[in-house]
Amino acid sequence: MSRSMLPTLAFCALALAGLSAQAQAPQTFATPQEAIKFRQATLKEMQQNFKQVADMASGRADFDAKVAEAASARAAELIKLPWAGFGPGTEGGKASPAIWKEQDKFKAAATRAETEVAKVAAAAKTGSLDAIKAAIGGAGASCKACHDAYRN
Ligand code: HEC
Repeated sequence: MSRSMLPTLAFCALALAGLSAQAQAPQTFATPQEAIKFRQATLKEMQQNFKQVADMASGRADFDAKVAEAASARAAELIKLPWAGFGPGTEGGKASPAIWKEQDKFKAAATRAETEVAKVAAAAKTGSLDAIKAAIGGAGASCKACHDAYRN
């Protein structure tokens, strides 16, 4: 390994450690705007990864098993993160105020999506496009169910 790669690797390790810490611990934010920015950014990055796989499932993109596996694994990780950005007092963005009145239902919708996206990741791990096709619909429906109820 070349010497010049070491700082990059160290940075990646730090970034990964930060990510898994976010996935576990309830995140705190300095301002509501920070929370809104965080949840929008994680949802956006998650969607970009999810879409890569969804496009392969629908035939809009050529199937590449390795890309599908990596993108769906990343989506499954990312979909655990946004929910920490919906804490008390963070109303705003395109989030419906109903979220803060129905925290249990919102959390259930989030858990459902986590489960469904994890199924896509598990399917992609098998390398089978048919398995991905079988899993992607449920995941997409879990996004839509929450957006219909809780996104303005
Ligand atoms: C539990 C509810 C919930 C689930 C599940 C959910 N979303 Fe969302 N999503 C939201 C809310 C609420 C917003 C608006 C956030 C805001 O503006 O503060 C949003 C916003 C977004 C955005 C816009 C982010 C931006 O750039 O501002 C994208 C993209 C997105 N969701 C994609 C998805 C995809 C893809 C899935 C499924 C794999 C999904 N979401 C599942 C609630 C959800």
